[in-house]
Amino acid sequence: MTEVGDLSVRYGATPALTGVDPPLHRGCITALVDPSGCGKSTFLTCLNRLADHIPGCQVRGRRG
Ligand SMILES: Nc1ncnc2c1ncn2[C@@H]1O[C@H](COP(=O)(O)OP(=O)(O)OP(=O)(O)O)[C@@H](O)[C@H]1O
Ligand SMILES: [Mg+2]
Repeated sequence: MTEVGDLSVRYGATPALTGVDPPLHRGCITALVDPSGCGKSTFLTCLNRLADHIPGCQVRGRRG
């Protein structure tokens, strides 16, 4: 079951992710496929807490 939900990220005043609810399932492989700039890397930096070290980056929601 997912432990990530309603995830929103802003870089300063600019939103990068808004209310993301990804269908993640324990024990399953998940692929992120989207056009450039849609927020794939941003999403991953939230999961491993790297976003906490990006100046001006604000994360809201559940992220594990
Ligand atoms: N450190 C940052 N500061 C400000 N804006 C950022 C930063 N990192 C990413 N962004 C912006 O956030 C949005 C999402 O970018 P992100 O790099 O997460 O997309 P991506 O899906 O990984 O793109 P790509 O497929 O090119 O790797 C883009 O508009 C990008 O310009
Ligand atoms: Mg990327």
